[in-house]
Amino acid sequence: MPSTPLCLVSELPEKTAKSYKFDDLSCFIIKYEGQVYAYLNACPHRNIELEWQENDFFDHNKDYLQCATHGALFLPHNGYCITGPCSQASLTPLTILIIDDRIHIKY
Ligand code: FES
Repeated sequence: MPSTPLCLVSELPEKTAKSYKFDDLSCFIIKYEGQVYAYLNACPHRNIELEWQENDFFDHNKDYLQCATHGALFLPHNGYCITGPCSQASLTPLTILIIDDRIHIKY
């Protein structure tokens, strides 16, 4: 399983996200309450990317991750959908490693 280096933890401010594309993988990382999480960039409702603008995955209050297409809201720390057409489904988490402050994603 390859491990791909991304940005530094210190380059990812609290409650922000960055998206990445590798070959056939579209994913994003977030920082939430000091922790870094990674998910496939695919809404469980229609299997399409979530954001409406680059790196914009949080809702207006930055409490949830939001799908721009039909407004589903997901808990940032586990990707569980609390409301919307895919309620009770979840984003697909990806495994990350942090080595010397640099975030790596395994896929
Ligand atoms: S495609 Fe995400 S809520 Fe419909």
